[in-house]
Amino acid sequence: MAAPVVDAEYLRQVDRARRQLRALISNKGCAPIMLRLAWHDAGTYDVKTKTGGANGSIRFEEEYTHGSNAGLKIAIDLLEPIKAKNPKITYADLYQLAGVVAVEVTGGPTVEFVPGRRDSSVCPREGRLPDAKKGAPHLRDIFYRMGLTDKDIVALSGGHTLGKAHPERSGFEGAWTQEPLKFDNSYFLELLKGESEGLLQLPTDKALLSDPEFRHYVELYAKDEDAFFKDYAESHKKLSELGFAPR
Ligand code: HEM
Repeated sequence: MAAPVVDAEYLRQVDRARRQLRALISNKGCAPIMLRLAWHDAGTYDVKTKTGGANGSIRFEEEYTHGSNAGLKIAIDLLEPIKAKNPKITYADLYQLAGVVAVEVTGGPTVEFVPGRRDSSVCPREGRLPDAKKGAPHLRDIFYRMGLTDKDIVALSGGHTLGKAHPERSGFEGAWTQEPLKFDNSYFLELLKGESEGLLQLPTDKALLSDPEFRHYVELYAKDEDAFFKDYAESHKKLSELGFAPR
């Protein structure tokens, strides 16, 4: 599909969708799954072949039925009424806007949102998203393929400050922090504390401690929430624009 024309009417619908998303996300407490949807749409990007990315392709059954996307149909369906009320907005933009609003309404940093992403109907093959059972080399393989850096890996992993794992979706269980609807730096504080009763740490979370380059950022973000928010906002913007060159 050609790039949408981001004219005054498009921008008006973006503003309206943003307000509707704030209401939906606060009323339903669905910030975590909205952030995960945005990340899983964007995180398929391959910088070499310029395929995948924030292009709305996760709306198709072929992609949302990938094992790593289990549960995300819930978020897709929750957004459908907002798409219907704001039909000019592409799915690609709507999903990324939902991710940005999810972070904002739970107390996180403001992530700049630039509209204009194209929708694609080409779904990437399964296997582009990270496998939670693996370690640091795998994280680098996956995120470098997207064109992201070590700092992006650690800052974005801080997204696990929100939400929880569901056994029927991923096979894992539990939240990473005591307040999974609050966006703060507690993910890093918990990570440094080690395993605690009732909280989850995936193998890929623990990999951030054992790798010295990653650990440097974990320690910084645990100590300095402002540094985390600043880096997170930059990395999230990059993630939200994978495969999209704003003009
Ligand atoms: C949930 C893996 C990175 C945001 C999950 C779950 C797994 C997982 C296994 C549980 C899903 C479920 O059972 O419902 C990973 C791995 C990553 C990663 C291996 C590699 C670093 C990220 C990133 C973000 C993110 C970059 C966003 C910036 C979330 C959120 C949830 C979640 C918000 C909670 C969803 C909910 O409560 O429904 N992740 N993730 N994750 N992930 Fe990640």
